[in-house]
Amino acid sequence: MAATAPNDLSNWWMPFSDNRYFKANPRLLAAAKDMHYTTADGRRVLDGTAGLWCVNAGHGREPIVRAIQEQAATLDFAPTFQLGHPLAFQLAARVAGIMPDGLDRVFFTNSGSESVDTALKIALAYWRARGQGQRTRLIGRERGYHGVGFGGISVGGIVTNRRAFGPGLTGVDHLPHTHDPARNAFSRGQPAHGADLADRLEAIIALHGADTIAAVIVEPLAGSTGVLVPPVGYLERLRAITAHHGILLIFDEVISGCGRLGAATAAERFGVTPDLICLAKGLTNAAVPMGAVAVSRHVHDAIVDAPGDAPGIELFHGYTYSAHALACAAGIATLDLYASEGLFARARGLEDVWADALHGLKGLPHVIDIRNFGLVAGIELSPRPDAPGARGQDIFRSMFDAGLLIRVTGDIIALSPPLIISTDQIGEMVDRLAQGLRQLA
Ligand SMILES: Cc1ncc(COP(=O)(O)O)c(C=O)c1O
Repeated sequence: MAATAPNDLSNWWMPFSDNRYFKANPRLLAAAKDMHYTTADGRRVLDGTAGLWCVNAGHGREPIVRAIQEQAATLDFAPTFQLGHPLAFQLAARVAGIMPDGLDRVFFTNSGSESVDTALKIALAYWRARGQGQRTRLIGRERGYHGVGFGGISVGGIVTNRRAFGPGLTGVDHLPHTHDPARNAFSRGQPAHGADLADRLEAIIALHGADTIAAVIVEPLAGSTGVLVPPVGYLERLRAITAHHGILLIFDEVISGCGRLGAATAAERFGVTPDLICLAKGLTNAAVPMGAVAVSRHVHDAIVDAPGDAPGIELFHGYTYSAHALACAAGIATLDLYASEGLFARARGLEDVWADALHGLKGLPHVIDIRNFGLVAGIELSPRPDAPGARGQDIFRSMFDAGLLIRVTGDIIALSPPLIISTDQIGEMVDRLAQGLRQLA
């Protein structure tokens, strides 16, 4: 049953939106199936962004729908504080099964933001449990996006997401970002230059002392800021430096996890294993909100088996909806579907076709960089001198009206289609974009 357009748009204060513009020019999505949305006025829109980087298996997939329906009728909700339900343990085992070796303890949340704040709190609790409670500093990275909780915006580095919200956490520092168009523009896959930027961590460590730093958190591939692929050797250097100084490394894989980069995780794809991995989005194919933090055994055990503690709650943290029964059902069905259709391998197999198609846009008006990895691409446009971001908004709107959903951050287009996209649909996406770019002022 497709919803009809409402008469009154005033009550809903929309997230991350230009509310005034939207309500004057509404764009409403009413239904979705596989690779397409249907708008409230009945137009089909090709989904070039898997919703918000999350519908990795495509929309309205029958096994997931069925699992949610059946679960709602069997056990809608079960408290998970001091109680459990079978699906939560099953899903935790399934998640552990696709994480890198050793990251087999799984804490459930309801979003990427909650996963990030959970991971940061686990890092702090870990050091306290080990008798090093002075390790409280957290290191993020410029241009990083780690959701919208106070922890996430503090370690994050997107200026607009922080400006209005006060000082945030204290004791936070940031690595430099890795965007280097002068040396890396139009890289296919990992850019060649920039591994040395990881060495800046040594300077931060020298400044504060390793024994004050709890964790470093980065997106292995930065998504929301406009697709920054890690330079060759960069993540390896970060891992080596954090390991050398005994600092925990957290990968925020809310976007890069669950197949987006052609493997279960970026950690697997790049061959670099952190201590904690944040997940969300693709975990349930976005059919029910859910996030998770995969935690290495030694971190978990240090907290849960801390010597000397009286028996009782080990970590005073959790959400009413942690391991929600519907989310667990959706998660298990989603991981089954990824496996039965081999979607992670499929994404990997499409990578060259994807890269060839996208890099074919080089030379079109305003295009100053194209970057890609897995089934992700960023197309950077030159900003209008008087109005940065306006060109991005214009192309977003014109593409939507032309039947293609893209995502823009400022003047950077980000593409991340469902992993079921066909080669024809890749061609269709790129043709429409080419047309749009030719007409863009
Ligand atoms: C890397 C990363 N971390 C965290 C988040 C926040 O996730 P959510 O919007 O589910 O809170 C996002 C969302 O895009 C993300 O890309």
